[in-house]
Amino acid sequence: MTERVPFTDVYVDDEIVERATDVLESTRYVKGPELETFEENFAEECGVEHAVGVSSGTAAILLSLRAVGVEAGDEVFVPGNTFFATVSPVLSVGATPVFVDIDPETYTMDPADLEAKVADAANPAAILPVHIYGQMADVEAITTIADDHDLSVVADSCQAHFAERDGQIAGTAGDAGAFSFYPSKNMTVGGDGGMLVTDREDVAETARKIRNHGRDENGVHETLGLNYRLDDLNAAVGDEQLKHVQGWNAARVEVASKYTDRLSDVAPVTTPTEAPDSTHVYHLYVVQVPPDEREAFRDFLDERGIDTGRHYETPAHQHPAVQDHPAVAGELPTLPETERLYERNVSLPMHPRLSESEIDRVCEAIEAYFE
Ligand SMILES: Cc1ncc(COP(=O)(O)O)c(C=O)c1O
Repeated sequence: MTERVPFTDVYVDDEIVERATDVLESTRYVKGPELETFEENFAEECGVEHAVGVSSGTAAILLSLRAVGVEAGDEVFVPGNTFFATVSPVLSVGATPVFVDIDPETYTMDPADLEAKVADAANPAAILPVHIYGQMADVEAITTIADDHDLSVVADSCQAHFAERDGQIAGTAGDAGAFSFYPSKNMTVGGDGGMLVTDREDVAETARKIRNHGRDENGVHETLGLNYRLDDLNAAVGDEQLKHVQGWNAARVEVASKYTDRLSDVAPVTTPTEAPDSTHVYHLYVVQVPPDEREAFRDFLDERGIDTGRHYETPAHQHPAVQDHPAVAGELPTLPETERLYERNVSLPMHPRLSESEIDRVCEAIEAYFE
């Protein structure tokens, strides 16, 4: 029987196992040297002053928002096209998410809609663009709007490790960037984990405190924190993965370019568009198909052993946890481009080790469906 084409894949090798074993044998499991090493190396690879390892991408977003000073009653601009974890930290700090539509080409936050929504806002505090699917939002335009209105920028870079646009690396423009190391991401830590990056000393210092119960070096709890630490076992695995991620990104770009070459002849399928002067790192390869065909199309691929996904099934602003939240009730906008995408989106298998024959199988199945 032919094997399925898996949607994603996690890499582990002898070096990773050895490094993890060393940590286990050392019994230095938290606040040890592996975390410091991983943070230093991640900061250097991004070209920023500080990297703060935390327990998840969600924690990285939450701590970024708190560290830049977002408070209850503030408004934070978020795209509707994102995983819910972009929005939950905003609500958790008591702020109101203001949903912004996407650019229909790149699927990232539309600066024109952002500008209009900022102009209408009563308490604007921060912009939270998402570098979705591995492609950076237009940070140049977004940081200009932020500067004009004195807003912070926290970039959700959870899907875009080392993507680039206009000479910037994901997460490094603005006040802070947040990364996830959830196992399906472009790099992992062998479990849950995240990283906050920043050039701002004060942001790094506040985040370090909040991740460890708000405690300073003298044992004083100056601010309220919880436990958002990244343990040493995960940090060691992350540090090994970091050595590979740029190569894996290049392999993802190769896979994407093969899909795009082949599928551009299949008229009903819309393939992804890359912004000029950018490197899309293809955490996901999302195509659009006609809405009334989508489920039949996915079933057809499934019957041929090909896994697909939907990222996501519901736009962030349409979830009950947002709609029923007292901070937003009754104020939800329509986001035409986001909602259009969500009627059509299908994610194809994507990972750096996808073989030529697996790519062929996916493309042949798609061609056969639309024949
Ligand atoms: C866009 C986006 N934001 C935030 C997160 C949250 O990351 P984590 O699952 O590590 O908390 C994820 C990952 O799932 C994500 O894809």
